[in-house]
Amino acid sequence: MIDQATKLREMMRTKLKEEKLENKNKKARVLAISSGKGGVAKTNFAINFSISLRRLGYDVVVLDADLGLSNIEIISGISLNNSISDIIFANKDIFEIMGNGPEGVKIISGGSGLKELKLLDDENFNKLISEIEKLQKSTDFIVIDTGAGISSSVINFIMTADEVIIICTPDPTSLMDSYTLIKSLVYTGYTGKINIVCNLVSNRDEGREIFEKLYNTVENFLRVQIKYFGYIERNRHIRNAVINQVPFIISNPKDPNAKRINIMAMNYMDAKYSPLEEERISFARRIMDIFIRRGD
Ligand SMILES: Nc1ncnc2c1ncn2[C@@H]1O[C@H](COP(=O)(O)OP(=O)(O)OP(=O)(O)O)[C@@H](O)[C@H]1O
Ligand SMILES: [Mg+2]
Repeated sequence: MIDQATKLREMMRTKLKEEKLENKNKKARVLAISSGKGGVAKTNFAINFSISLRRLGYDVVVLDADLGLSNIEIISGISLNNSISDIIFANKDIFEIMGNGPEGVKIISGGSGLKELKLLDDENFNKLISEIEKLQKSTDFIVIDTGAGISSSVINFIMTADEVIIICTPDPTSLMDSYTLIKSLVYTGYTGKINIVCNLVSNRDEGREIFEKLYNTVENFLRVQIKYFGYIERNRHIRNAVINQVPFIISNPKDPNAKRINIMAMNYMDAKYSPLEEERISFARRIMDIFIRRGD
């Protein structure tokens, strides 16, 4: 018997085919995954959510922007020969450094070494961004897994995105750090949508409760509205999937957390995906704005 999710996926694929027919000039939607506090499952979310989008029929590239501390390869169970640093130090283009991840998701590694840290200067960042821009023409989504915190690298990567998903947990320090990240984004002039995923919660109510706390603080002090994206419960499957280096949506497709990710992906697509939306500010324009704002 065909279940509800399969029917929905079929509907999404048909919708995608229609969109692809209309849309010969691809322009990827850029989504940043971030957090104030580290170790809250950004990388896990990035790869599992991307696989879910891929299963809906979209082309997805995950870019690990945690430069020098990249662990997308470990969590995806792959090993790549190149990383972002090869764009700067070996003059490779973005298509040469991109590798194959699970289920057809493409992966770009942020590298694991000291040389990657040198990528953070403005000139290198600029070069990197123009390569990412090339990528926009050949895929549907670019999912950027940023590092944690409020460093200029994290903020700049989020500023290049159409929207951001901030992952937070019930830990009061995580809530505080999420607020600080949102405040930094608002003060930097970020105008994209801010979505929140509550991870490591014990149930749906706890997810909502955390979100509401954050929502009220952000609305009161920053006058900005954030959006609830979903929740993920603490469970051993996610931990084991990391240990076994298989994304949990593949190892445990029936796990309620895997289903939640699928629902988040479907809601995200349903929200108003329109790759050719004319008035969308171009990626290049947003990058220019970063430099203009800084007076470079
Ligand atoms: N819902 C969950 N249930 C159980 N364990 C979890 C859950 N979410 C995350 N974890 C654990 O948290 C660890 C950190 O996950 P991950 O590496 O994806 O976080 P991160 O935010 O990308 O970290 P970093 O800030 O270092 O980049 C995982 O290895 C996993 O063991
Ligand atoms: Mg990570």
